[in-house]
Amino acid sequence: MLLIGFMPFFTFGLGTWQLQRLKWKVNLIDELEEKLQLQPLSLPPKINLSVIPEFVYRKVALKGNWDHAHTMILSPRVREGVHGVHVVTPLVRENGSTVLVDRGFVSNDFAFDSSFQKEGGEVEILGMLRTSQPRNAFTPDNKPEEGKWYWADVNAMTDHAGGEQAGVQPVFVEQIFEGHAGEAGTRLSKGIPIGRAPTIDLRNAHLSYVITWYSLSALTTFMKRKPKRN
Ligand SMILES: *[C@@H]1O[C@H](CO)[C@@H](O)[C@H](O)[C@H]1NC(C)=O
Ligand SMILES: *[C@@H]1O[C@H](CO)[C@@H](O)[C@H](O)[C@H]1NC(C)=O
Repeated sequence: MLLIGFMPFFTFGLGTWQLQRLKWKVNLIDELEEKLQLQPLSLPPKINLSVIPEFVYRKVALKGNWDHAHTMILSPRVREGVHGVHVVTPLVRENGSTVLVDRGFVSNDFAFDSSFQKEGGEVEILGMLRTSQPRNAFTPDNKPEEGKWYWADVNAMTDHAGGEQAGVQPVFVEQIFEGHAGEAGTRLSKGIPIGRAPTIDLRNAHLSYVITWYSLSALTTFMKRKPKRN
């Protein structure tokens, strides 16, 4: 009975805590949305790695040649119900460091035999600066020696691409695709990587926690007050 009496307050407290977290998250997302609206940055030849956290989610413009020999395949990935992979290729910048670019999604039809598009010559791309992707408890370990990557581990990918001695910097950019659905379909059928949308993809589950805890609080209050019927 003591526990039941305590429950409404305890759950109410958790609800209030989640409400504060929700406000914090909404502010953070607003801040990142604003960052995303800024003009694309032109990355300097040598990137100061200590300032990367400050520039995460900024759009960046890059120019260089793809190093297809060191392409890494992130799998499995799903895009609108289609099974496939993401193609990460180092971009060798003239007179600058090489950076890693997640060019986007290709279906398994082009991933298994590595027949996806491999542009030659100098390319100019627009991307979004990111950091290593979070992995969850179910994400297997990467096996670079077997060419198996499950999550973007920027340091390990940099080593795979040749490491700092080959002029590769641990900088990870996700290429942006802003075309419409028709263009995406054409790319899909031709094995041309489809980049990400320029949007903030932070998970915001706090609202559902707020509702859950407050509902539980209301429910346990009600349970406590319910008169006993004999
Ligand atoms: C990198 O940026 C930090 C923070 O702005 C600065 O303190 C540091 O001197 C810079 N390093 C180089 C090599 O420019
Ligand atoms: C790179 O360096 C070479 C030699 O210094 C120079 O001729 C060339 O214009 C530079 N390229 C760029 C893109 O700055």
